[in-house]
Amino acid sequence: MSNQKTNNVVFTVEPGGSLNGEGRVPGDKSMSHRSIMLGSLAEGITEVSGFLEGEDSLATLKAFQSMGVEIEGPENGQVRIHGVGLHGLTTSKDALYLGNSGTSMRLMSGLLAGQLFNSTLTGDKSLSSRPMRRVIDPLLQMKASIASAQNGTSPLHITGNQNLQAIQYTLPVASAQVKSCILLAGLYAKGKTCVTEPAPTRDHTERMLQGFGYEVLRDGATVCLRGGGTLKATQIDVPSDISSAAFFMVGASIAEGSDVTLKHVGVNPTRTGVIDILKLMGADITLSNLHEVGGEPVADIRIRSSQLKGINIPVDLVPLAIDEFPAIFIAAACADGQTVLRDAKELRVKESDRIQVMADGLQVLGIDAEPTEDGIVIQGGKLGSGTVVSHGDHRISMSFAMAALRSSGQIVIEDCANVNTSFPGFVDLASRMGLQIN
Ligand code: S3P
Repeated sequence: MSNQKTNNVVFTVEPGGSLNGEGRVPGDKSMSHRSIMLGSLAEGITEVSGFLEGEDSLATLKAFQSMGVEIEGPENGQVRIHGVGLHGLTTSKDALYLGNSGTSMRLMSGLLAGQLFNSTLTGDKSLSSRPMRRVIDPLLQMKASIASAQNGTSPLHITGNQNLQAIQYTLPVASAQVKSCILLAGLYAKGKTCVTEPAPTRDHTERMLQGFGYEVLRDGATVCLRGGGTLKATQIDVPSDISSAAFFMVGASIAEGSDVTLKHVGVNPTRTGVIDILKLMGADITLSNLHEVGGEPVADIRIRSSQLKGINIPVDLVPLAIDEFPAIFIAAACADGQTVLRDAKELRVKESDRIQVMADGLQVLGIDAEPTEDGIVIQGGKLGSGTVVSHGDHRISMSFAMAALRSSGQIVIEDCANVNTSFPGFVDLASRMGLQIN
């Protein structure tokens, strides 16, 4: 596979219009990654439906294939994983290239720390600049052997054949990736590994481990498991990704005359901060057909346009909407009054510095958006037109595409190839619903 990628995809979006109709956005990225990881480590054949055929989850899939796991598909979201058991992976002849995917790198470093073989993890330019000390530090405490580039970034070199020890670890930042990394290493560690989180973060790892028959104990903010068990193959129905749905929630909210229904969206309470925040801003969002699929809550989400108002975003909602802020900032730019976000420093170390990149783009469009150290202050106003740079960040590209629904002129967005990491088919679905995007 080539590690190079051309990033010359440009979105040109005409102003105005509305979003209407019913649709299904692609499968949840977090769950798709985890289905491959746990399915590979399970005993027996795991069947996955609704798998996200985006570059990030495909990077995880290819990495496990190169460690000897037979994986059929994906075909129309169906994947069949012939699990090799917790000790059945084999060394990959090449470094594992994980593209743009922080989730792949951080979760896999945990489980690879427990293997008998050595591994090297690499990624694209963005991933190679993202902080990895947050996983290296706890793994070293577990007696793993893991080396990074000098500034704590990838490539990561993991030496196998270590005797991992369980730890009790309190996360310094609210991060599901770090929590999951430690729990996956904990599968291989002697004793009971516990992770305490400063605020609730997405709990798909815990839920899916239980779906594979592995005991996970939660006591308040602490989650624990014991090493040495086994995972039993299962069936996984991956719901649509609420993070992808978020662009349409914002688009339909800001564009007059919109009425959109998104089917079968995952509404795990650790992910629904975007709904709560948009509702606080006055959005008209209703959930129906709420039910559970494989231990995860799912619903249809209907969004109708409404005049939004600026708010102070409650800090407890920040980790629950961590990937949706680029879209929420577009909502804020279209709202009456001021929106203030704080305690969201993590946004600076996502696929791009999402505070700075969004502020720059909003300013190009004539919006008063002032970055702060750990957030942003946005004055709602009239969106103009112009060219914004996404810095290869999928969520920035899709957010500014939706902004055109309320802009006075054309918006051109550069560097959009990475939309395929999380949302293949975005342009088609957005066009079908009414966005004038090329
Ligand atoms: C993810 C956790 C979040 C999120 C990322 C996916 C996961 O990262 O931003 O897109 O699947 O665990 P952090 O846990 O680092 O906040």
